[in-house]
Amino acid sequence: MKDKNKFYVTTPIYYATARPHLGSLYSTVLADIAARWNKLLGKKVFFLTGTDEHGQKIAQAAQKAGMEPQKFVDSFIGDYKHIWKLYNIDYTRFIRTTEPEHVKAVQEWLTKLLKNGDIYKSKYEGWYCIPDETFVVEKGDQESPLCSMCSRATIFISEESYFFKLSKYQDKLLKFYKDNPDFVLPKERLNEVIKFVESGLKDLSISRTTVKWGIPFPGDEKHVAYVWADALLNYLSGVDYNKDQKNLEFWWPADLQVMGKDILRFHAVYWPAFLMASNLELPKHLLVHGWIKVNQQKMSKSLGNTIDPQDLYNAYGADAVRYYLTSQLAITHDAEFSTQELEHRISTDLANDLGNLLNRTIALAFKNDLFEVPEIKKWSIEALELYDYSVATINEYHDHMQNCSFHLALASLWKFISRVNAYFHSQEPWKITDKEKFNEVISATCHSLNVIGHLIWPVMPHKAIELLDHIGQEDILDDNVIQELKKKWNNSFKLKKGTTLFQKIEEPKVMKEIEQEKPLSEPNINFEDFAKVKLLVGTIEQCEEVPKSDKLYKLQVNFGDKGMRQILSGVRQYFKPQDLIGKQGVFVFNLAPRKMVGLESQGMMLFVEDANGNLQFVTVAKEVPNGNPLR
Ligand code: MSP
Repeated sequence: MKDKNKFYVTTPIYYATARPHLGSLYSTVLADIAARWNKLLGKKVFFLTGTDEHGQKIAQAAQKAGMEPQKFVDSFIGDYKHIWKLYNIDYTRFIRTTEPEHVKAVQEWLTKLLKNGDIYKSKYEGWYCIPDETFVVEKGDQESPLCSMCSRATIFISEESYFFKLSKYQDKLLKFYKDNPDFVLPKERLNEVIKFVESGLKDLSISRTTVKWGIPFPGDEKHVAYVWADALLNYLSGVDYNKDQKNLEFWWPADLQVMGKDILRFHAVYWPAFLMASNLELPKHLLVHGWIKVNQQKMSKSLGNTIDPQDLYNAYGADAVRYYLTSQLAITHDAEFSTQELEHRISTDLANDLGNLLNRTIALAFKNDLFEVPEIKKWSIEALELYDYSVATINEYHDHMQNCSFHLALASLWKFISRVNAYFHSQEPWKITDKEKFNEVISATCHSLNVIGHLIWPVMPHKAIELLDHIGQEDILDDNVIQELKKKWNNSFKLKKGTTLFQKIEEPKVMKEIEQEKPLSEPNINFEDFAKVKLLVGTIEQCEEVPKSDKLYKLQVNFGDKGMRQILSGVRQYFKPQDLIGKQGVFVFNLAPRKMVGLESQGMMLFVEDANGNLQFVTVAKEVPNGNPLR
């Protein structure tokens, strides 16, 4: 019988091509919060993070830096560990894919699959995206297709390769998704995975002969393992796959695997299929978050718009940034990073709502010579109502944390904080002369702060301990803390004066490093530049799925006396054909024709992102003749 009281959580392993940026920190903080929450629940926790160190992307980056790949990747490990320490990331193991133990595990795994026939040798011909280290599913006939994930240029490769029989697992995967609708959190993201699998899985090339920086393929050292096959295995080698069976059995399957939406396909399709082929259980949940954007673009090393967590730490401290990342950036959405918003949150939520509540309570108690708040024997109705509210909050918080809706958990906790502030004010304790009544108000507030201090610990571990220390609470991780917090209020509190928990931001901090990376202003164009783009209105007469692609629609668009045109548009996940057919849209008419999946696209349809990250098409308020230009 398995020990159910365990929680195994992982982050993606980060490409060791640069220092960690705010996007890397985001995935890691989410995993750390889940780990700490489960510790609060009294579980044994294993938290794995690390670095992805093989493959073409790394080899190229090392070459550019004029370094040996191993030395190159080694040079970033200190940075990762340093930043994780600053941000109180309490990982159990930091794994590197160049570690001999991991290399051995991958080779043994490949050998096993070679033996059972799930891996075979053939030839790969097609397009490859180096930044994403991915084989491009849409095969272009002549011209290079852009990567369907990142829209960057791809390269053509033609080489002998080992293949994993991914196609064999198509039906099994679909059944698994059906039986486990909450495999992917938030649930909505599973739909795109199902669509991708339903569109047909081809066998996956899992070795390269033209790349040297990788794990030698067992028995055929001309090949190295495809970097994603190597990297995904870290989740197993991290808990001693093929090394310590007992340890593996204890921790596997992973309970939660955290990742950004860009790498969901690898984790929700390839990874489960690898596990099925290895007769291993599948992870319980994948937690998928959106992107942090800067100036509307995904923050990424290649775009050079990254924000350094070290700068944020220096300016605001770890816990405030952790709070901002969790409360402001809802997991379900992409969100624009903003120092103004971060500063606003620090001043209002943290300094005003929470910090002041603690300060005022302690200052007032001390002013009235109350240093030890005694146990209260009989509570007033108002205090009992506050107690009830605290229990309801704990339950709500618990449910949201279990669903990994961390931003909702914090929202309900902050509702409680407002409620406690309202209670404190309504009682006007500064006017109370009756000692017992005064003690009661301070005690009810301290009990509330005790609940708040424990519940914020997963998100703000240092500040939580500081807060609890002010009210004399030391043992955070008592068994069954959550149940304890719901018990009838009967604590006494030893109060301590201390430093202010959070400082209001009076003067906005100008973060040079961030400002420098933003363009000072959008460059202007003159009218001639604008006039070069021919924007015409047309009616979509037909809309069909392109069979070789999971994203593209083939549109037949009527431009009136300028004729019909075929236009390809990668918007399948946002619209059904009937949403588009018969509608007027705006098109770039004079864009040079481009070939995708062997079909020519003779223009481009315009869309805009809405508040939920979905696309809306651009149209006219009233119907106009087809082919009319925008001016
Ligand atoms: N090495 C692969 C993962 C292999 S896991 C077996 C990889 N590495 S990465 O360094 O490019 O990205 C790691 C994580 O950082 C991903 O979860 C990714 O979504 C996240 N982020 C990178 N940039 C990001 C933002 N701008 N915003 C939020 N998270 C993003 O992919």
